[in-house]
Amino acid sequence: MTLDHAAPAASGTARPPAPSRSDIEIRPLTEAGIPDWLRAVGVGFMQAPSVSDAELEGRRGGIDPERALGAYDGDTCVATYRTFDQQLSLPGGGVLASSAVTNVTVSATHRRRGLLSRLMTADLAAAKERGYALSTLISAEYPIYGRFGFGPATRSAVWSVDLTRTGLGGRPSGPRDGGRVEMVPLDEIRKIGPELHARFFAGQPGAVSRDDRWWDLETGRITVPSREWKEPFWAAYRTASGELEGLVAYATDRKWDDSKQPGGTVTVQHLFTVSPAAERALWEYVCSLDWTSRVRSGERAPDSLLPDLFPDPRAARIHVDVDMLWVRILDTVRALEARGYEGEGALVLDVTDALGLAGGRFLLEAGPQGARCVPTDAPAELSLDVRELGACYLGDASPLRLAALGAVREERPGAAATAERLFRTARRPWCPDIF
Ligand SMILES: CC(C)(COP(=O)(O)OP(=O)(O)OC[C@H]1O[C@@H](n2cnc3c(N)ncnc32)[C@H](O)[C@@H]1OP(=O)(O)O)[C@@H](O)C(=O)NCCC(=O)NCCS
Repeated sequence: MTLDHAAPAASGTARPPAPSRSDIEIRPLTEAGIPDWLRAVGVGFMQAPSVSDAELEGRRGGIDPERALGAYDGDTCVATYRTFDQQLSLPGGGVLASSAVTNVTVSATHRRRGLLSRLMTADLAAAKERGYALSTLISAEYPIYGRFGFGPATRSAVWSVDLTRTGLGGRPSGPRDGGRVEMVPLDEIRKIGPELHARFFAGQPGAVSRDDRWWDLETGRITVPSREWKEPFWAAYRTASGELEGLVAYATDRKWDDSKQPGGTVTVQHLFTVSPAAERALWEYVCSLDWTSRVRSGERAPDSLLPDLFPDPRAARIHVDVDMLWVRILDTVRALEARGYEGEGALVLDVTDALGLAGGRFLLEAGPQGARCVPTDAPAELSLDVRELGACYLGDASPLRLAALGAVREERPGAAATAERLFRTARRPWCPDIF
């Protein structure tokens, strides 16, 4: 990877002549530049060609100009890029700050001329300078970010549940464990949601922090025209002693077919819990609503209790199963020492990083009591790119599979199995949020 991707394409291809680096200037955003920058975001994401006052009003508060870059063709913004501070929940209960990347767009008039490459290589180096050991993002398309050292570190599943088949029908409402499910007004959600989410976050590797703005957007206190919002139904699960252990937000569409059969779909927008009892109770609740025949689960953990909490698990099928959070390690020592390890062992990793940020040879000695990672001259046992290290970081990707695929290389027979025992976790990581 070079910093400048503006080199002309190989002869014979139909690429337009690429502007030289000096034609397109990359510079930090200013307050005055926000409207044009947001216009470029709207163009890049094919949302709208212009920015309304309401859009500007709703979006301005979420942008820190010091963490945003624009690429300018003359005075016109043609590419956008922004980061913000995010906390990432790690295996073993640790937390690490991440430089989260968002609002990445290059206008169609300027695509494939190296603008993203310039923005990203500059920003990843700046993120490391700022002291981040990680960068994170959600990738619109799979092929975009691997070349910059990001690896797909969590997966997410969306289930479709046929409510005529679950076997839940006809039961009296309410959990059978003495707890209760109750509707919660929006104002109350704004108060109790963040605290419950903090407890969920602490126990869910791969989860990312939700700031005040997230809650204001989700509870309608801030509205943004490009982000459709309609008040959802919120319900809570409380234990027999009244402790809040789960929340669900869902929307309904009230459809009936020609023969007056209910055909409505319940779409779950958020469901997060801190106990299996809460997870069971809230799924049983949303899958037992009258007038509905289908539930769309929203983004779920790959090891969610769905569908096995239904008497007939075949009532549910996976509609989408896709990579979700991508992790880019910027500081290998800090990142590997920050997470917990369920297995015990030692491994010499030879990490390549084309951007020169996190590469080197490292001895990792890890176990349930903690981890130590130090640069070493010892012979490498497992060679891998920083992209694969990112994919394995939260415990989801399998080093054994990656070795079989040729994506990591064993320098010592059995090294991939050692990595498997060290890196993988019994529970799978999950990031429920798209940012
Ligand atoms: C995705 C996007 C940001 C790429 O920007 P860009 O300036 O065209 O990217 P670059 O020119 O720096 O591309 C660098 C390399 O990545 C490749 N690449 C970039 N986007 C790609 C994509 N969507 N699919 C496959 N390859 C892609 C390029 O072909 C190029 O490869 P090369 O180095 O072998 O020539 C831009 O196309 C865009 O804004 N798309 C719509 C919005 C979007 O998807 N944003 C990302 C949100 S996560």
